[in-house]
Amino acid sequence: MSPSITYSEDLDGVDWVALKAALAADCFDNGRSPEQLRRSFENSSAVALARRGEEIIGTGRVLSDEVSNAYLLDVWTHSRFRRRGIAREMIRRLSSQLGGQHLYLQADAENTEFYRRLGFREQPIGMSKTIGRWLVNDGSEVSSRH
Ligand SMILES: CC(C)(COP(=O)(O)OP(=O)(O)OC[C@H]1O[C@@H](n2cnc3c(N)ncnc32)[C@H](O)[C@@H]1OP(=O)(O)O)[C@@H](O)C(=O)NCCC(=O)NCCS
Repeated sequence: MSPSITYSEDLDGVDWVALKAALAADCFDNGRSPEQLRRSFENSSAVALARRGEEIIGTGRVLSDEVSNAYLLDVWTHSRFRRRGIAREMIRRLSSQLGGQHLYLQADAENTEFYRRLGFREQPIGMSKTIGRWLVNDGSEVSSRH
């Protein structure tokens, strides 16, 4: 019998090297090292993971001020397990901790229908800026003109 899919909202037992490899193999890797991936998740307000047996097959995390504003990131379901409600369940779990807050995200055009189905609506404009150089976190690449 194949293992069932389970969900958790903590990072107990995560193998960050394996998760990084799984994300890269599934073409959802934005360049973070396993250590940077760990810090991203550990420094988040809330996380959701989906597992099949020991294998992590879904991720999501939220940054929140716990008052008015939250931001949804790293939403991923392994391509072998898509369209089974896994991302919907992870986002439901994350959202359950965000009462009264405005939840933002940035999505590619190909994912807008997915987010619309979860109740998100397009915003008039989104803007972003990389401060210094992407993934250089020690301040050495931040100019005085940012
Ligand atoms: C986007 C993604 C997270 C969706 O994960 P998933 O587990 O397959 O999503 P779910 O099965 O929970 O889908 C929820 C709903 O959205 C729909 N949906 C899922 N992907 C969709 C897509 N690409 N286009 C249209 N609808 C989609 C599902 O049919 C389902 O609808 P329903 O509940 O009304 O039947 C997954 O495709 C993925 O990991 N993509 C690559 C990483 C990525 O781009 N993440 C988003 C970063 S912004």
